[in-house]
Amino acid sequence: MYKNLKIGTKFNLLLILVFIISIVVSGTALSSLLQQRAQNEVAAKALILIKTMNSVRKYTQERVNPLVAPRLETEPVFIPETVPAFSATEVFENLRRNEEYKNFLYKEATLNPTNLRDKADSFETQIVERFRNNPKLQEIADFRNVPEGKVFYIARPLAVTQQSCLRCHSTPDVAPKSQLTTYGPNNGFNWKLNEIVAAQIISVPSQEVFNNAQQTWVWIMGLLIGIFAIIVVLINFLIKKTVIQRIRRIEKIAQKVSTGDMNAEFNDDYKDEIGGLAAAFNRMKYSLKIAMEMLNQHSQ
Ligand code: HEC
Repeated sequence: MYKNLKIGTKFNLLLILVFIISIVVSGTALSSLLQQRAQNEVAAKALILIKTMNSVRKYTQERVNPLVAPRLETEPVFIPETVPAFSATEVFENLRRNEEYKNFLYKEATLNPTNLRDKADSFETQIVERFRNNPKLQEIADFRNVPEGKVFYIARPLAVTQQSCLRCHSTPDVAPKSQLTTYGPNNGFNWKLNEIVAAQIISVPSQEVFNNAQQTWVWIMGLLIGIFAIIVVLINFLIKKTVIQRIRRIEKIAQKVSTGDMNAEFNDDYKDEIGGLAAAFNRMKYSLKIAMEMLNQHSQ
């Protein structure tokens, strides 16, 4: 089978085989590289956001709280600006007003929250429970599918770390009156010291980043296939011009010489292998001519 194939076909088969193997190998390698980069990109975004939110919390705790705390006793309604959870949530809401961040989410998802907007949904409850069951677990980071597409989330446990938290989160009778007026006596109490009560969860949309990665992949693969196609065409042209056509010519002349046409010339003035072959054929033709002439003289 292989022996019956023409040189050009053989070359093409080999080229196409190499082509397919390299496309498949480089395609899968590139795909996983781009996926990895996309993942890192979203993870980095989520990480910087969660760190920013923690800075906001810290600022509120250290700078705002001392200033506002005395007023909690005297004001009729609670001043939520003193609560780190509130300031972080509000700052993030401001960020989300920008079109490009509107699908980002930040939540201090709490099993028994003071403000009901912080109530953990079923997915978030599972995360908080995981932190509660495994106090060593410091972070959960993963992708999940929501109706808007794929998102990446980072969750960290929030624990009641200080005795001072229990002023407002243990029993209603020790909480500031203003807190009870604003939030009522039913939510956000009975927390214990060192108990994990919530999970700080940041969620970053990743569908677009992955779509971009896929688009980049399609572009690069298209480019590679295009370049390979040009290479195959060029190599074919080159083989035809420099090898096949010249061999065919030599074959034709050899055919003529073999039927007695001693005037046919193997003229190929290239100095390469085929040129050498043509020159050798020419010498053979002259030897043949001389031998024939001697034979003719003898027979006369
Ligand atoms: C002065 C009272 C007060 C103190 C002290 C206080 N909190 Fe709160 N906390 C609140 C109020 C009120 C809210 C609800 C704020 C809002 O409207 O978002 C809240 C909200 C939270 C939330 C978000 C979930 C929820 O309940 O809505 C977390 C988590 C939280 N607090 C943890 C703590 C921790 C941890 C400490 C101690 C470091 C602490 N709090 C100290 C009053 C307090």
